[in-house]
Amino acid sequence: MSYPERMPRNRTYLMCPPEHFTVEYAINPWMDTTIAVDAALAIKQWELLRTTLGDLGHTVHVLDPIPGLPDMVYAANGAFSVDGRVYGARFKHPQRSDEAIAHQGFYRASGWPLTIGEQVNEGEGDFAYLPEAYGGLVLAGYGFRTDPAAHAEAQEVLGRPVLSLHLVDPAFYHLDTALAALDDRHIAYYPGAFSPASQRVLGQLFPDAVLADRADAEAFGLNLVSDGRHVILNTEAVAMGDKVREAGYLPVHVELTELKRGGGSVKCAVAELRA
Ligand code: ARG
Repeated sequence: MSYPERMPRNRTYLMCPPEHFTVEYAINPWMDTTIAVDAALAIKQWELLRTTLGDLGHTVHVLDPIPGLPDMVYAANGAFSVDGRVYGARFKHPQRSDEAIAHQGFYRASGWPLTIGEQVNEGEGDFAYLPEAYGGLVLAGYGFRTDPAAHAEAQEVLGRPVLSLHLVDPAFYHLDTALAALDDRHIAYYPGAFSPASQRVLGQLFPDAVLADRADAEAFGLNLVSDGRHVILNTEAVAMGDKVREAGYLPVHVELTELKRGGGSVKCAVAELRA
């Protein structure tokens, strides 16, 4: 089967180099403070992800890393933007709260209208946007980090319908570990990460979704970045790469072993700026 509709769209991203990346606290089940991170390797792998996105024609802005904020490399968590409006993060854990301020500085300096969430929310970690699904739909996760009250708040800030999805497996604590936008209207997800009711809702709205299994999700195969044609995933997610290829996309694998130690992969490291 051929899919001529799988066309890439140029994107603008924000990333933050893992210069101060460590695992010195554990706020998700993947983090093990007893295992040292290879800092040099983390930077090398991050650089390759950045150049991969650049080589595909995308614009990548870089946020200055701040000492003492070891999770800042997971730039997806700082905000969520749709149609040029920005809904700023408010982190659940105090260890990460200052990251929100750094992201606010970036959006202010770049002239984006910014509303900082009063409710706990972790940006694109728990929000995804599908501009062509149902006229523009936000998918939002809750259960571990983002407060469900933030979903209503985001809807008011962004003026797009926000669909709440209940995450139930602590291994998949952010929406972006369990669900990904493959293009402007299609998603991939791992059903087992969601409550039975949320699984029914996803099945109803996205009957043509690419379904991942638990092994795909554990390989962070859903923590992907797609431009509508190229799907960037980490090298461990081989089976997920095959699944997106079967669905007409082009998998591009990058090695990100070090970022997995903090409980993240490709998508966590890349925030999309939607003008
Ligand atoms: N150590 C970070 C945390 O637990 C990882 C964040 C991963 N980011 C993401 N978008 N899923 O908060």
